[in-house]
Amino acid sequence: MRPSDAHPQTLDHVHAEIWQRLAGATADPAHSWRTPTLATAGPNHPDARVVILREVDPHERTLVCFSDSRAHKVAGVRIQPVATWCFYDPVQRLQLRARGETRAHVNTAFTRTFWERLPHSSRRLYATVPRPGDRVLAPWEIAFGDHPVEQFAVLVTTVHELDWLRLGAEAHERARFRWDDDSWEAHWACP
Ligand SMILES: Cc1cc2nc3c(=O)[nH]c(=O)nc-3n(C[C@H](O)[C@H](O)[C@H](O)COP(=O)(O)O)c2cc1C
Repeated sequence: MRPSDAHPQTLDHVHAEIWQRLAGATADPAHSWRTPTLATAGPNHPDARVVILREVDPHERTLVCFSDSRAHKVAGVRIQPVATWCFYDPVQRLQLRARGETRAHVNTAFTRTFWERLPHSSRRLYATVPRPGDRVLAPWEIAFGDHPVEQFAVLVTTVHELDWLRLGAEAHERARFRWDDDSWEAHWACP
């Protein structure tokens, strides 16, 4: 943070806590931040859906989730390579929105490192013959193909903005962090 921030220690603490919580969510399936909502642009309207947070790298500022390469969210980030992730902890009444440039990686050496670590049961999810959203006769009628790895996508957001909000019993707190070339610029904001 820059020395001119009004509350450098406290903003530093909030910022450190954000990345700790994100990293903690990838390791704990029961963590409230494990299943954020991922919002992307679509051809006609914004879209949002729940995903599983798979990886976090505080130094690279990246958030990672997996998807079917044929899904609407992948088409969305190809049209407009941006996304907002919204995390919510209902116990602490803590919301985090993380925005940044987002890329879909498909069938590369990078995606295969994740693929190798997926259990067989998860790999099968990417093997459907119908595309996500296609009409099917019934869930048990869905056919599976032989090339799931080609239908596996890794979405990576490089975060450039964090918007943190805690609803307190007496007062609410909001802090904003913006990546500015080589450091985070931080300030408090009116909730
Ligand atoms: C708990 C939960 C976790 C989910 N995790 C993912 C995920 O990690 N990746 C994904 O593509 N879809 C995930 N989904 C399904 C999406 O919410 C969504 O329905 C699907 O990906 C189609 O979205 P799209 O048409 O906007 O691409 C999850 C759904 C739930 C309820």
